[in-house]
Amino acid sequence: MIDQDTINKITETARIEEVVGDFVTLKKRGSSLIGNCPFHNEKTPSFHVSVAKGIYKCFGCGKGGDSVHFIMDHEKYSYPEALKFLANKYNIEVEEIVQSPQNIEAQNARESLYIVSEYAANYFANELWTGEDGRAIGLSYFKERGFREDILKKFQLGYSPDAWDTLIQSAVGAGHKEEYLEKTGLAIRNDKGRLYDRFRGRVLFPIHNFTGRIIGFGGRTLKTDKNVPKYVNSPESDIYHKSNVLYGLYHAKKAIRDADNCYLVEGYADVLAVHQAGIENVVASSGTSLTTEQIRLIGRFSENVTILYDGDAAGIKASLRGLDMILEEGLNVKVVLFPDGHDPDSYMHHVGSGEFKKYIENNRKDFILYKAGILLKEAGTDPIKRAGIIRDIVESIAKIPDDIKASVFIRECSGLLQVEERILLSELNKIRAAKFKKTSGGNQPQTSQYQQNPYQQDGPPDNLFENPGEVAAPVEQVETTDHNLIQEREIIRLLLAFGHELVTWDKIDNMYIGSFIIQNLADVTFEDEICKLIIDTYREEIENGHLPVASQFIKNEDRRIVDLAITLSTSPYSLSENWENKHNIYVRDESVNLKATIFGGLYHLKKNKIGKMLTDITKELASETDPVNQEILMQRHIMIKGVERDISKYLGTVILK
Ligand code: CTP
Ligand code: MN
Repeated sequence: MIDQDTINKITETARIEEVVGDFVTLKKRGSSLIGNCPFHNEKTPSFHVSVAKGIYKCFGCGKGGDSVHFIMDHEKYSYPEALKFLANKYNIEVEEIVQSPQNIEAQNARESLYIVSEYAANYFANELWTGEDGRAIGLSYFKERGFREDILKKFQLGYSPDAWDTLIQSAVGAGHKEEYLEKTGLAIRNDKGRLYDRFRGRVLFPIHNFTGRIIGFGGRTLKTDKNVPKYVNSPESDIYHKSNVLYGLYHAKKAIRDADNCYLVEGYADVLAVHQAGIENVVASSGTSLTTEQIRLIGRFSENVTILYDGDAAGIKASLRGLDMILEEGLNVKVVLFPDGHDPDSYMHHVGSGEFKKYIENNRKDFILYKAGILLKEAGTDPIKRAGIIRDIVESIAKIPDDIKASVFIRECSGLLQVEERILLSELNKIRAAKFKKTSGGNQPQTSQYQQNPYQQDGPPDNLFENPGEVAAPVEQVETTDHNLIQEREIIRLLLAFGHELVTWDKIDNMYIGSFIIQNLADVTFEDEICKLIIDTYREEIENGHLPVASQFIKNEDRRIVDLAITLSTSPYSLSENWENKHNIYVRDESVNLKATIFGGLYHLKKNKIGKMLTDITKELASETDPVNQEILMQRHIMIKGVERDISKYLGTVILK
C-alpha cells in the first residue's frame, strides 16, 4: 500500500514523454509525439503521446493510459509495482503504509526473483573486486583480455568462487529464500535434494532487461579444458525470456537512439569491447540465433542495424537467411566484416579503439548489395547458378516492406547483377503476390482504425444533431450502436473536455459547465456502469465543493475508468495538428458553439431516456387494470410527451455552425 500523497507526487512527476521515451522513440508531430507502438507490431506509427494531457494512446491497438499504466502494460507490473518503478526513476521516496520487516516477503514472486538476481550480481561483483580468488583469477583474466576497469564496473561483471554453495549460503544468510534462488536458476537442486550453485569458478556477465534490472547471467569458464562448456547461462525464468532479451540493450538504448543505428554482435565480450572503443550503441543476441522479438526490440530504438561479423565465410553464408528476417521487420541492414578470423572483441584489442572505430565506419556495406556480391562471386559465370542468385536476392528485397526502399535496391541490384530493372521488378511482384495470398486475411492495413471513423470518409455531418452517435464519439474503440451508451459517453466526454469552462448563458451566470451538466442530470440515471461511476464521482465531488479535473479519471486506479476517459478525451484530431491539412478534413471546433454542443448532448440523452420512459409507461398501461392508476399513468405520459416535444423542438431548430 502506497499512500495517496506519494501516488500523487509520482504521477505528477513522471512525465509521460520521459517515461514512454525510455522505451519508444518518439517524434514530434503537431502538438503530440508519435512513435511505433510497443504493444503491437507496426511499421507505421499510430502510437500517440500527448504531453499536455499526460497520456498515451495507440490508435492501432487501442492501448492507452498515463505513465503508470504505460509501465504496468509494458513491464507487466501491478499498480504498486509500477508506482515503485517510477518512484525509483524519479528518486521519490515511497511512503508505504505498511512498512514492516515482512516487506521482502510480501513482495510478489516476480519481484523476489529480481531482488535475488540483483543480490547475486552484487555478490559476484564483490567477489571479483575484493575476493582473493576473484581478484587473482577473475579480475586478472579480464585485465589480461584488455578490459578496462570502468567497463567491468559499468556492466557489473562478477566472479563466482569455485565452491559448491557460497552464493546460496550468503543469500540465505541475508534473508533470501531458496525457492527464488532455484526459480532464477542461480541454484540447482540435485537428485538427493541438495542445493548447489549453478555458477562456480566462472566470470559472470549479468544480463539486464532494458529497464536495467538484472534478470539472468552468463558465466564464462576460465578453464581451457574442451570438456568444460565455455558458457553456462541462466535458464529461462519468470523474469528471463531469452528470445526477447538483447545483451547490452539497457546500456545501449540511449546511444542507439542518438546514433539512429544499432550495432549487433555475437558475444558478451564483443559488447564490452565495442563499448570500450567508445561505441555504445551495441547489443548482442548472446548465444541464441536472432529472434523476431529481438529485432522488434531494436526497431523501437532505431530502424538501422549494422551487423558486426567475425569474418568466417561459412558462418556468414549461414547467417544470410537470418538477416532477411531483419529486412522483413522493416529495418535497414548493413554489415561489417573483420579480417583474418577476428571478431569485434579481438579486432578492437588488436588495433586499438581509434582504428577500430575508423574501421567499422569505413567498412560497412549494405546487406543486400553485400549478399549479392558474395553470391555472385560464388556462382562465377554459371548461368543457372546466376539465375538462382537473382531470385534469391529479389526474395530478400521482397521482404522490405517499404516500396520506395525496395525500388532503390532493385535499381542498384540491376546494375550489379546485370539484369534489367524491369525483369527484377516483375520477379519481385511475383514473389509479393504469392506472399500476399499466403498471408492475406489476417493482415489488416494499419490505417483500418482511422477508416472506421466517419470523419475521415465523409467529413463531419452538416448537422450535428442529425447523427449524434457519430459526432458524440469521435472515438475508435467505442464501437457501439447503442444510442443510450453513445449518449451517456458523450456527456462524460463533455464533462472531461469542458467541465472547467465558465459560461454565461441566458439564465445562468458565470457557471462551470461541469456544474451545469450535473445540475441538469439530476433526473437522469446512467445505465452504463463506467459512465455511472464517473458521473457519481463527479457529482459527489461537486457536492463537496470541488470541481473534478479530467486527469483524475485518466490517472485512476480503475482501469475501466482510465480506458474510457482516455478514449473520450483523445481523437486523432486533438492529437495531431496536421491531421486537417494532411487529410483535407474539416474539423469543427466545438468550443465555438459550446452552448449548442452542451445542450445538444444533454437533450439527446434526455430524449433517449424519455423515449424509454414512454415505452415503459405504455407497457404498464397495457397491463394496468385499476382505472385510477391508469389515469395517473396517462397523465404522466402526457407530461413526459410534452417534455419530449419541447426537447425535439429545441433539437430541431438549433443549427450548428
Ligand atoms: N555462447 C553460449 N554458450 C556457449 C558458447 C557461446 O551461450 N557454450 C553464447 C554466449 O552468449 C557468447 C556468444 O554465444 O557470448 C558468442 O560465443 P563466443 O563467440 O564463443 O563467445 P564470446 O562471448 O566471444 O567469448 P570469448 O570471446 O570470451 O571466447
Ligand atoms: Mn569472442
